[in-house]
Amino acid sequence: MSKITVIGSINVDLTVTSDRFPKVGETIFGTGFGTYFGGKGANQAVAAKRLGADVTLVGCVGDDANGEMCLKHFKEEGIDTSYIRKVKEPTGVALITVSENDNEIIVIKGANSCVSKEDVNNALNVIRESDMVILQLEIPLETVEYVLEVCRKYGVKTLLNPAPFSAFPKEWLELCYYITPNETEAKQMTSLDKEEALKCYPNKMVMTHGSEGVYYHDGEKLVHVPAFKVEVVDTTGAGDTFNGGMAVGLCEGMTLSEAITLGQKASALAIGKMGAQTAMPYRKDLD
Ligand code: RIB
Repeated sequence: MSKITVIGSINVDLTVTSDRFPKVGETIFGTGFGTYFGGKGANQAVAAKRLGADVTLVGCVGDDANGEMCLKHFKEEGIDTSYIRKVKEPTGVALITVSENDNEIIVIKGANSCVSKEDVNNALNVIRESDMVILQLEIPLETVEYVLEVCRKYGVKTLLNPAPFSAFPKEWLELCYYITPNETEAKQMTSLDKEEALKCYPNKMVMTHGSEGVYYHDGEKLVHVPAFKVEVVDTTGAGDTFNGGMAVGLCEGMTLSEAITLGQKASALAIGKMGAQTAMPYRKDLD
């Protein structure tokens, strides 16, 4: 079984649904409310686990009810929680509005701000044995940079999902093995247009494009892997499911194109249900 380590955020998502997004300063009635397990790191960890990898999640939760609830949930999912530290800051939360086939999210980082180089050092043995380490940008950037350096030193492949976007040194693009921005994030990172950016990072930059699908450059030409057409219920965590799925495929030795398709299949299924992690499919659901 492939070994994947995810170093990233853990949130509890407080999600409302409404017929439309409110305008600035406006109050409207919603149509539903739910509490779900979220956080880009945790979402990618659960996706990878359900799709067939052996997963360790490195991160921080608060010493509070939300933290306990998340730890219990990860254990039930079969994720190794040995490197999740309880800290004084409260567990991260995300306030999410789901509407108009899209979402709006505000994240309060809380405990996620405490994920440190020391947490990475504590998990070093697991990191070194991993087939891949997955990162996002909801934990301190200096920790992400340290992980990229450590993984490069030990020859461990990394997949960086640069979301939510924060400006980071250009050298990261060389340090990481795969990078999975959406079109806006790619532009912010490289100041280049889609095709130029992809051409600069062949077989490394995998650009997601919402319902259009995914693009990458194979060294000779631009490759478009179209998305599956599905009925949208909640897109929260769709990108995370894609990242987790693509990582699993790559670790299993699939070609980049095959791994992208695996990720896309999984995220298409996740979009059909409410919640990030609750909606994620198991490997058998993809057949
Ligand atoms: O990518 C979706 C996730 O972003 C949500 O689960 C929310 O917690 C935020 O981290």
